[in-house]
Amino acid sequence: MSFKERVRKIKEDAEKFALLTREDLENYRIKFLVKKSEMMELFNIIKDIAPEDRKETGRLLNEVKKAIEEKYKSQHEVFNHKPQDKKNSQDLTLPPFYANKGSRHPIAIIKNKIIEIFSKIGFIIEEGPEIEDDWHNFSALNFPDNHPARDMQDTFFINMEDQLALRTHTSSVQIRTMQSQQPPIRILAPGRVYRNEAVSARANCFFHQIEGLYIDEKVSFADLKQTLFYFVKEMYGDDIEVRFRPSYFPFTEPSAEMDINCTICRGKGCNVCKHTGWLEILGCGMVHPNVLKNCGIDPERYSGFAFGMGIERQSMLLNGVNDLRTFFENDTRFLRQF
Ligand code: PHE
Repeated sequence: MSFKERVRKIKEDAEKFALLTREDLENYRIKFLVKKSEMMELFNIIKDIAPEDRKETGRLLNEVKKAIEEKYKSQHEVFNHKPQDKKNSQDLTLPPFYANKGSRHPIAIIKNKIIEIFSKIGFIIEEGPEIEDDWHNFSALNFPDNHPARDMQDTFFINMEDQLALRTHTSSVQIRTMQSQQPPIRILAPGRVYRNEAVSARANCFFHQIEGLYIDEKVSFADLKQTLFYFVKEMYGDDIEVRFRPSYFPFTEPSAEMDINCTICRGKGCNVCKHTGWLEILGCGMVHPNVLKNCGIDPERYSGFAFGMGIERQSMLLNGVNDLRTFFENDTRFLRQF
């Protein structure tokens, strides 16, 4: 093969050489551009060409070398492209990148909403331990020993000797507050509570409550009603109707449960309200004089009301969630919806 033919052959090979990967590019460099490559060797022997042909052959060789280098350079740039100008380097045709941001848990959202509503009328937050003794969880709240009312809330005892248990309601926080403060008292006690219940769509072994307590001189059932009317309207809307049903709690007398119009069918009757048109949302009542006495507050001078509600239940009614368990599964497809 003559010198010229060799140059043309190299040219052809280089043109055909596909540069699809970085590895291709490196092989290309080794084949055509390193010192020992055939093309570079041609540069060494060009001096042996007859002087009259040397000029033209040299030009041809230089052209081929340039083309080979260009091809290498441009593909090298493609592989190693680093945007210099950030503004112009965005590819607006790419699908959007969704960052997995965290968000408030639905329970926290509802809890904050309830706190906001009551804080406008002067309620402040009190908290207490999740592990309680029998006295704060039951006895001080007027649950007599061996009284069946203790069965209303199946208890997880953790130490029978000292009668330590996971609190079954945040009413224990009411006791702790009344023990350490004198009226006027206006508190909200949000927190996690535990009950030994079979887990189902409607019940779980733990859930969240928010309880309220208001103690002062001359607090009446009318105050209780007005406070809860105000709450319901802020929470569920102006057009919601309310009814009170007589009920029983050892720590309140009289006691009631409060229902609202079914938020799904607005009172017409549906599966959620079991065709009654009403949904129970909380328990309430006037604080039993024994409870005040147990905490060192004079029941002759002071009276008060208390109420308690499940936070999950409020979220289920407001947001149409039909299974309590979904709040605790941490499935982001569920959580993302709030
Ligand atoms: N502690 C009650 C419960 O957990 C709720 C309640 C609170 C009822 C305050 C009346 C007054 O079921």
